Amino acid sequence: MREIRDDFPADLAGCVVVPTMGALHHGHTVLIRRAVAVAKARGTGAVVTIFVNPTQFNDPKDLDVYPRTFEADARMCREFGVAAVYAPTVGAVYPPGVEVPVGPIPAIASEPGLEDWFRPGHLEGVAQVVRRLFVMTSPSAAVFGEKDWQQYRLVADMSANEGLGIEILGEPTAREPDGLASSSRNVHLKGEAREQSVAISRGLRAAGVERTADGAEGTLREVLREAGIEYEYATVRDSRTLLPPTAGTTACRALVAAPVGGTRLIDNAPWPWDGE
Ligand code: PAF
Repeated sequence: MREIRDDFPADLAGCVVVPTMGALHHGHTVLIRRAVAVAKARGTGAVVTIFVNPTQFNDPKDLDVYPRTFEADARMCREFGVAAVYAPTVGAVYPPGVEVPVGPIPAIASEPGLEDWFRPGHLEGVAQVVRRLFVMTSPSAAVFGEKDWQQYRLVADMSANEGLGIEILGEPTAREPDGLASSSRNVHLKGEAREQSVAISRGLRAAGVERTADGAEGTLREVLREAGIEYEYATVRDSRTLLPPTAGTTACRALVAAPVGGTRLIDNAPWPWDGE
């Protein structure tokens, strides 16, 4: 496996990329496995990018304390058969004096009133760095976790709207045995907060069997409230636009963001959902 820190080699163009900020955990292994399998089928390599992107952090303190575990990350990638880990410097991604474009930004980054509302500027930062990483690595496909549903749909819209010719593959959320969505933030959940956090996936499952979107939203909120969780949003939306469902909506998603014991968690599931 190659470890690349500066110029991305031309022979890896057409790779299947997994953009990450490192601190790889169980959730990432699912994305990496998919990328390796897709790359193999295409006769190319899987590349994991590791870059802690400063432009997507709302709080500079979060950026400072973001875990950096390159050695362990590289080891994991090697084990899973990744062709290369690409960990560019901030100067390579955002060269001094060069304006790295933020837009065009698809409507899904500003209209739904979900992550766009609660983390202003975050999705713009994601769009900026993902577009830049795509330019740097020239992939044929990229794998994103569906846990960050708004991010995943944003990148899919960006690739389609701009005709980037990069296939955006969503990978269903990896979960702990009790249902909690895998996340690098889970290490901060201790004792009571860890127990409380399970109410999020429980709420999504309970909402999943309701017959109407309104009923699903009501059930989801009730489960969260009963667990003492004050959510930022807990809602059922059109899965493509993330706007409230209309008569033309063909698929929905139930989505939650909530601070639990001081840790902000997000999760989502298809609605209806059988819990699998
Ligand atoms: O989901 C993430 O880890 C990041 O938002 C991403 C897509 C790597 C962009 O920095």
